[in-house]
Amino acid sequence: MKSILCSADHSALTQYFSYDTMDRRLVVIFTATGNQGYPIAKYFLQDPIAKSHYVVRALTRDVTKPLALELAALGAEVVKCDLDSEQDVNSAVARAHAIYANTDFWSVYTVEGEVAQGRRILSAASTLPTLEVFIQSSFPNAVELSNGQFKNVLHYNAKNELNEISKTQFPTLWNKTICIWVGYYYSNWIKFNYPFGPQKDSSTSPPTYVLAKPYPSSTIFASVNPDDLGPAINALLKSGTTYMRKNISFLAEEQTDAERLEIFGTTLGVRTIFQEIEPEEYSKKMAEAGMPPHIVQNVTEQLLLIRTGNYMAQKRDDIIPIRDILPEYRFKSWQEYVKEADWSSIL
Ligand SMILES: NC(=O)c1ccc[n+]([C@@H]2O[C@H](COP(=O)([O-])OP(=O)(O)OC[C@H]3O[C@@H](n4cnc5c(N)ncnc54)[C@H](OP(=O)(O)O)[C@@H]3O)[C@@H](O)[C@H]2O)c1
Repeated sequence: MKSILCSADHSALTQYFSYDTMDRRLVVIFTATGNQGYPIAKYFLQDPIAKSHYVVRALTRDVTKPLALELAALGAEVVKCDLDSEQDVNSAVARAHAIYANTDFWSVYTVEGEVAQGRRILSAASTLPTLEVFIQSSFPNAVELSNGQFKNVLHYNAKNELNEISKTQFPTLWNKTICIWVGYYYSNWIKFNYPFGPQKDSSTSPPTYVLAKPYPSSTIFASVNPDDLGPAINALLKSGTTYMRKNISFLAEEQTDAERLEIFGTTLGVRTIFQEIEPEEYSKKMAEAGMPPHIVQNVTEQLLLIRTGNYMAQKRDDIIPIRDILPEYRFKSWQEYVKEADWSSIL
């Protein structure tokens, strides 16, 4: 069975799964090996109620990579899909009832590249007679939020351009779209340690972990563990038209960096310090680490936008906090994450 499931021969897969999808809804998950797609796929494959309602088609460029094999072993239809291939994307969404759409700015590094990939998803999804709901991983609009001051938060711009394309060119699809704003991953302090996390200063004894940011330590850095996305997406798929054309802010913690650093230090038993530095100094550090200039500007403006307020939790009629949808669900806290995570790469 596993070899069939991992095959790139889509016609064989289509035949195999067409029977089952007569009874269960087919949910197609883009970037299924990533921070967002993988836990969503796993939830739909493992939760007893969700799996009785849905079958999962998990998309990846490499159906033989360990996470893809793991999803296949759990029962996913794992299909090769390169977002740079229109043909791949078109056949990947065939017969979908629900789609989780996500694109990875950090694999392409340009707005044009991410928009081209996302547009392929929109275009393919817009032609599907079976599609009931389209969930788009998105972000707030940095240019609007800053009244035009921060025009270079490129990964935000790309997602907002995709929403504009959907609204204007694929209005039927837009009417079925729910946008989800996923907050900053807890794992950013490990995976993107240099721009976002505390740096080890070994010149002190014991070493000090220095969090240097271009804003005061009282700034709220809203965050979440994307591993908790599964129940949220399940709730959205069951919500009918309630959240269509709205934004769901997916946040677990709304802590200041001072609070986050305090938890990090006390939980791991290490000395910490927060340093507010000038934006120019922050940019210089990023450039010295080899970041290309447009990405330096991107991350600097992103942090300066954060300085202006907790924008992921804006109060607006078209923004719904995930806690309003899942009031009973216990999201992983930052403290729990700090306790459980493997910090060996930065300690
Ligand atoms: N870091 C944060 O705090 C945060 C918060 C919210 C949103 N985001 C956004 O999340 C997005 C990335 O999602 P993620 O974190 O879930 O991904 P990720 O863990 O960084 O992994 C990248 C994913 O993208 C897929 N991918 C990359 N290029 C592809 C291509 N050409 N065709 C098909 N798939 C491709 C990879 O699949 P394969 O390698 O298996 O093909 C993999 O699943 C970014 O756009 C970022 O802006 C980040």
